[in-house]
Amino acid sequence: MSLSTYLKSSIGEKTLMAVTGIFLILFVIGHMLGNLQVFVGPEYLNAYAAQLQNLGPLLWAIRLFLLTTMVIHIWAAAKVVRRSVTARPVKYAMQKDVATNFAAKTMLVSGGLILVFVVYHVLHFTSGNIDPIGAFADTHTEEGADVYAMVVTSFQHLPTTIIYSLSMILLCMHISHGASSLVQTLGWRRCSSNCTDKIGPVLAGFLLVGNLSIPLSIYFGLIP
Ligand code: HEM
Repeated sequence: MSLSTYLKSSIGEKTLMAVTGIFLILFVIGHMLGNLQVFVGPEYLNAYAAQLQNLGPLLWAIRLFLLTTMVIHIWAAAKVVRRSVTARPVKYAMQKDVATNFAAKTMLVSGGLILVFVVYHVLHFTSGNIDPIGAFADTHTEEGADVYAMVVTSFQHLPTTIIYSLSMILLCMHISHGASSLVQTLGWRRCSSNCTDKIGPVLAGFLLVGNLSIPLSIYFGLIP
């Protein structure tokens, strides 16, 4: 079977979704670990942000890679969903949910909302086009960006904290099902299905605590 035939097959599309999912999860883990430096102090978070900016063309290569990965992930997801709808145009008379849960049933919705969040987030923290409290001009001066001040002032604003917190819950719901599912797709099961099912929720729990801790700690004044 040629590579293009394989990628157009049901298992090929699922594999593409799984592999791109791994890269996106790795990005989310790395991004969270970088952002958690907000707890260590402004000099750490700002030095990390400056290092990223100093990557120059490599930063653009990473951005392009991430964008392509997201596009392929969404394209493969759309194909998988369309295939399952066309395979069963008439709904089962009695639908019984076997081994499925809320996160699994809402993958399409959570995925779409995460996409909306990422666009909003880049327009907010990277380009400054969305600036609900007018913090961007004050924190981005000729000398460079004070990312720490931008993050802290942003999460002192209740609506922003709510938007980010809800988005982190959605993201973790998506990863909770997605990570367990990709382990199955790639045939990495080394234990019972019960244990595979736990991989996603454990990873999602870790990401939820880390990502939620930032806006909530700032909003409740634990970070000055
Ligand atoms: C509370 C959680 C988060 C915080 C505090 C946060 C913080 C930040 C900050 C400060 C930047 C700008 C960095 C700079 O300009 O130097 C940024 C950029 C970005 N973030 Fe987040 N982020 C969070 C969650 C997420 C999540 C969950 C995703 C993806 C699902 C994400 C995706 C991105 C992307 C794609 C960029 C643009 C990177 C670039 O092109 O420079 N972020 N984030």
